[in-house]
Amino acid sequence: EKPEPLRVMISGAPASGKGTQCELITKKYDLVHIAAGDLLRAEVAAGTENGKRAKEFMERGQLVPDEIVVMMVKERLSAQDSQEKGWFLDGYPRSVSQATALKTFGFDPDIFILLEVPEEILVERVVGRRLDPVTGKIYHLKYSPPETEEIAARLTQRFDDTEEKVKLRLVTHNSNVESVLSMYEDVIVKVDGTLPKQEVFSKIDNILTELLERKEAALGSL
Ligand code: AP5
Repeated sequence: EKPEPLRVMISGAPASGKGTQCELITKKYDLVHIAAGDLLRAEVAAGTENGKRAKEFMERGQLVPDEIVVMMVKERLSAQDSQEKGWFLDGYPRSVSQATALKTFGFDPDIFILLEVPEEILVERVVGRRLDPVTGKIYHLKYSPPETEEIAARLTQRFDDTEEKVKLRLVTHNSNVESVLSMYEDVIVKVDGTLPKQEVFSKIDNILTELLERKEAALGSL
């Protein structure tokens, strides 16, 4: 018999490294990565009604209204692959109402990982961030430069990755973070997100390995 799959939340300020760590985690762990921001950007790119509405809020660095976000995330969490393999939720919940909705639907995390990075570092990370539209990989001009000239030539920038916009995203983050954390007090683990990305990953890797071992042990003792 297999132990229950992992259910993980990863949170942190804008550009604290959530997406970067999720890339590394999905390489090693067979979990379904669900990123609220990516789901929203896909709606924006597809030009749907929800996407058009969402973009107005994203451009102001504000939370997209619950009626768009909550069901979108719930559907992805309820899908068969997420239920079978386990999930890894990135950038959700960001408010008490989102956390409450998840609890009501019965989605409780085994662990809530908080990436801690001071604000002065976040702005530099956002301004230097680039994305590869072909592979979806996240780069930074200084900290994670592209491997080849060919990749460098095709990199793109997110529409909300300016100094002005990240400051708005930070205001939103700061006004919600404490209340969200208070709902997951018993499962929060804080990780220093200022370390190089491989070192941050090795801390997260240890946390997840230990959690899996605990689940296996619990199965054995039944
Ligand atoms: P979202 O896409 O989630 O953006 P965010 O929270 O602002 O976070 P980012 O994606 O900017 O950063 P990240 O932490 O993933 O950092 P990354 O790994 O790329 O949300 C966007 C918008 O959508 C929101 O503003 C909101 O409007 C809406 N939205 C999303 N979720 C919502 C929700 N639940 N409810 C309502 N609205 C919602 O790293 C950043 C850079 O730093 C990269 O260049 C990377 O290479 C570099 N880097 C990463 N780690 C390191 C390291 N350890 N050392 C040095 N550089 C590093």
